[in-house]
Amino acid sequence: MPRRVGSVVPSSPQLAKRMAREVAHFLGSKPGGRIVEVGAGTGAITRALVNSRTAAPLTVVEADRGCCAYLRRHFPLVQVIEGLVEENEERLTTPGARLALVSSVPLFSLTGDQRTNVLAAYERLIRRASAARIVQFTYAPWLPDQRAYSLLGRRAQSVWQNLPPAWVWSATHQIST
Ligand SMILES: C[S@@+](CC[C@H](N)C(=O)[O-])C[C@H]1O[C@@H](n2cnc3c(N)ncnc32)[C@H](O)[C@@H]1O
Repeated sequence: MPRRVGSVVPSSPQLAKRMAREVAHFLGSKPGGRIVEVGAGTGAITRALVNSRTAAPLTVVEADRGCCAYLRRHFPLVQVIEGLVEENEERLTTPGARLALVSSVPLFSLTGDQRTNVLAAYERLIRRASAARIVQFTYAPWLPDQRAYSLLGRRAQSVWQNLPPAWVWSATHQIST
């Protein structure tokens, strides 16, 4: 299995709904929000985000060409960007917007350099927002490094109805300019 994929099994509806709920709580119904989903795969979490009917526009960035074609077919109203998050930051930035950054990149399977690049890109995207919530799942109740902890917080919530069980990390960042 390629390092960037991390799992061949799509996330369960329960995990996807848990991720989407974090986004809905953060953005509420106020205007001026944007959702960026990184690593959408075949859209398990994308579907939950779309179904949660949050008013904010949703952009997906996904490295795999085949997955992007699938996502475009199944989610015609979602903007799908093919490529790495760290190479598409400009297209993922709406300065001053409130950003919900939803990530399922496999933090533990990436090489150290790949993970550093992804987390650094997340930090920059968050800094350009007026406020941001980052939501990430892992298959372990811990994180791979200190940088991930400072970005994602120290407390995760378990979702047992997933194969394998998953932990959802969710941290809010208020940006002072
Ligand atoms: C474990 S799959 C998650 C798929 C789906 N979100 C789910 O939960 O079922 C991880 C996905 O992240 C993508 N990915 C990994 N690193 C990425 C990066 N730096 N930028 C964009 N996509 C990335 C992979 O191509 C893969 O489709």
